Amino acid sequence: MAPPVRRRRDGETAPKPPEIASVLAGRALVRGRLQPVEIAIDPDGRIQSVGRTRPGGPRRDVGEAVILPAATDLHVHLREPGGPTDAETIPTGTVGAALGGIALVAEMPNTEPPVTDADRLAEKAARVRGRAAVDVLLYASPTDPRALDRLARTAGGFKLFLAPTTGIERPPLPEEVAPLLRRLAEHDLPVAVHAEDPRQFPPDARARDPVGWNSARPPAAESAALALLSGAPDRLRLHVAHVTTAASVDRLRREGRSFEVTPMHLLLSDRSGNDAQYKVNPPLRPEAERHALWDAFRRGEVPCVASDHAPHSAAAKELPFDRAPSGMPGVETMLPLLLARVRAGELSLDVLVRAACDRPARWLGQPMGRLAPGHRANLMVVDFRAREPLSARRLHAPCGWTAYEGWEAIRPREVWKDGEPIVQDGQYVGRPSGTVVRPEYAPGRAAG
Ligand code: DOR
Ligand code: ZN
Repeated sequence: MAPPVRRRRDGETAPKPPEIASVLAGRALVRGRLQPVEIAIDPDGRIQSVGRTRPGGPRRDVGEAVILPAATDLHVHLREPGGPTDAETIPTGTVGAALGGIALVAEMPNTEPPVTDADRLAEKAARVRGRAAVDVLLYASPTDPRALDRLARTAGGFKLFLAPTTGIERPPLPEEVAPLLRRLAEHDLPVAVHAEDPRQFPPDARARDPVGWNSARPPAAESAALALLSGAPDRLRLHVAHVTTAASVDRLRREGRSFEVTPMHLLLSDRSGNDAQYKVNPPLRPEAERHALWDAFRRGEVPCVASDHAPHSAAAKELPFDRAPSGMPGVETMLPLLLARVRAGELSLDVLVRAACDRPARWLGQPMGRLAPGHRANLMVVDFRAREPLSARRLHAPCGWTAYEGWEAIRPREVWKDGEPIVQDGQYVGRPSGTVVRPEYAPGRAAG
């Protein structure tokens, strides 16, 4: 289509400049350095230009605060359907995400019932519409081979659990994994894998605390699972979830795979606390291992960081350690904790933005995660002077607890979705405009 023209005074015609809906001015990372910028946003909520812009539309100047792309969280459990609703729901979890600087969450299929066929996927998509504060990509579980082809037409991706965990009693047998991966490679969808090989779990292990849990599900189970995955077809869009050791980072880098680490494995060890709040799958590792993972992360060797937000009610976590469920909340605290590490000089902002915003969005085929023309204007504004201790009382999550009570955090002051503020002064001000998204490279249509 030809651009609209307007008549110049001299009678010549010139292309009409595209419309600007608003301008956000502040500081931003440009080629690795913080510089003053003006971001022009078009009427469709996309970034039109970054740099100096001509006047037009309302202008908001955030001064010395830093404008970053909003993040994509590749790994959340919002617990619908099946509950428990005192742990999380789609509305509460997506508002928590927004408050934590996240504009897209990828939701896991280990709900009750699990998302194993197209009808269940459509049912979950219906729960998102009109109730989600941010966009949601829905993973499906590929365990029913008869349902797979239909499921692939509407799912946002697949999640494969190789070990038992919340809602997963019978993972595929090791000999079933390679044929399943070949089947999945027929579909052009992201496939995230929970990589623990239960053959490496000592059969008689009885864990009473996180140290025991680390022995019951040892790092050897992670390496064995990575060995199982190393034969995956090259065209499979494989991504390994919650990697816990520096050896796994080295291996996956050599193999050129996508993978994530979580804030809990970066910041907590098996000695951080004794109770079941610290029980997660895969387990927290010893301090030396945590330290090595953190070093790899800060060197920029880890492509993605994801929360593995897995809330359970406070009552469930008060059960004796061996009977309590695994998982902890994290969608609202991931960026605030890591932004505080940036402020402390322990992590570069550039490394964090690539791992939390750019690469996760790219892996899911989404036009966001960078301050670049054409990307959705999903943004956050961070005031690095605004440090505060985290407190469960002030978090949105209904479960009411965090493993990071009192930890230093920097919460985003503003979050924008498609050019509109959804968080202002640290408060949620949006409406449930979140939609179900799929990778833009995938054939088919959105679920439901
Ligand atoms: O700790 C975990 N919790 N690991 C998982 O794999 C599942 C998750 C959950 O859904 O609770
Ligand atoms: Zn998970």
